[in-house]
Amino acid sequence: MSTDTNNTGRGDKLMSHDYDGIREYDNPTPGWWHAIFLGSVVFAIVYWAVFHMSPLGDRWGVHGRYKTAADNAAAAAFAQLGTLAEDNDSLLRLSVKEAALSKGKAVFDTRCVACHRGDAGGMPALGLNLTDDFAKNFKDPNGVYNTIANGVTGTAMVPWLAQMGREDTILAAAYVVSLRGTNVAGGLPPEGEPLPEWPAPAPEN
Ligand code: HEC
Repeated sequence: MSTDTNNTGRGDKLMSHDYDGIREYDNPTPGWWHAIFLGSVVFAIVYWAVFHMSPLGDRWGVHGRYKTAADNAAAAAFAQLGTLAEDNDSLLRLSVKEAALSKGKAVFDTRCVACHRGDAGGMPALGLNLTDDFAKNFKDPNGVYNTIANGVTGTAMVPWLAQMGREDTILAAAYVVSLRGTNVAGGLPPEGEPLPEWPAPAPEN
């Protein structure tokens, strides 16, 4: 059949092929199709920029909201610790509080592992084992703080107080206090004197 189907009255252009009488228009893809295509490209770029590349993603994104909630909980737990101090009682209390230890460990992981090793077992000629029951430079938790704050003159153990600030120094000390007696595998042999028991903590008020 070869009636003139060329003229649909809408300016459609028929292509030349003819398969069993089935013919095909050579029309451009419709405007709405372009709109959706370009729309998704633009959406993807904006989404990537906002949720993956900008800090706004942390606030608006689903994960961001969970993270914010977790951050808030951690901040609240940390706030409960109250004012941080470096006396024996304060350090002993902090040394069993998760909110203090996680921050103390973070400080340790950044500043101290280079010499004392990731698990604080020490490294030959670099840093002592902090997980045994011996110490060269301190006898009590406050002494741990002082060693970290003021360093050990003439050794690689530099004073940290000026660099880290008092709060981070206290948290690092609390973390080190918590490591005593954990005796990690493969740690350096003990040096210094056997440590006396930590002083008994005063009752919490
Ligand atoms: C550049 C290497 C180095 C770094 C980094 C370092 N230390 Fe030390 N640290 C040492 C050395 C060496 C000693 C041993 C000093 C001595 O011979 O008395 C030591 C000793 C100590 C002691 C006393 C141990 C004892 O038995 O008396 C403590 C506690 C300690 N470091 C904690 C820390 C903390 C916490 C950090 C991170 C803030 C840190 N150190 C970072 C090298 C280092």
